Amino acid sequence: MKVNKADIVISAVSPAQYPRTGLPEVALAGRSNVGKSSFINTLINRKGLARTSSKPGKTQTLNYYIIEDKFYFVDVPGYGYAKVSKTERAKWGEMLETYFTQREPLRVTLCVIDFRHPATVDDKQMYQFLKHFGIPIIVVATKADKIPRSKWNKHTKISKESLGFDPEDDFVLFSSETGEGKDEAWGLIEGYLAK
Ligand code: GTP
Ligand code: MG
Repeated sequence: MKVNKADIVISAVSPAQYPRTGLPEVALAGRSNVGKSSFINTLINRKGLARTSSKPGKTQTLNYYIIEDKFYFVDVPGYGYAKVSKTERAKWGEMLETYFTQREPLRVTLCVIDFRHPATVDDKQMYQFLKHFGIPIIVVATKADKIPRSKWNKHTKISKESLGFDPEDDFVLFSSETGEGKDEAWGLIEGYLAK
């Protein structure tokens, strides 16, 4: 998709604020600091639209970005961020559970993992949670630029094994730095939007 038009619509703290246009949604789930907001920026060719940070925990709300008046990217707060209180964590869990289990316009969730390391326990839990609810998933293994190509096969194998990857899902190697995997990711996303 060639994107000329992209805007933030709302940083939602509660479901009452989610858009009611009925437009399809593409959500991003993943560990804090893994590169979810950067993924959005790369796909829409806009460096700073989704706020990124080298400090984990930047995205704390469900941030809705409307793309070409066609669909929303929903940037979901990352998990695995240690400096979050128990109460906050519980609230976060509740918000995500409600979103993922009840959100009718949700077409597909991108599970973003760090290609450099095996998937974490949290990654696996999120992936299996989404699978349990029958939500379509595209696994995006990002920061591929940090791994030499000669090791991509080995790392792909490690990523998939540690995640408990289901071969029926899609797996995209990605880098926000080089644009690796951008066209492939768009192709898959557009496939889900057309369904
Ligand atoms: P939270 O909002 O905290 O959940 O984080 P996030 O998943 O949105 O991560 P974000 O996009 O803010 O990126 C975190 C850091 O990783 C930033 O310093 C990015 O520049 C960096 N980063 C993201 N993607 C890539 C990538 O593909 N390659 C490299 N080398 N760095 C990346
Ligand atoms: Mg973010």
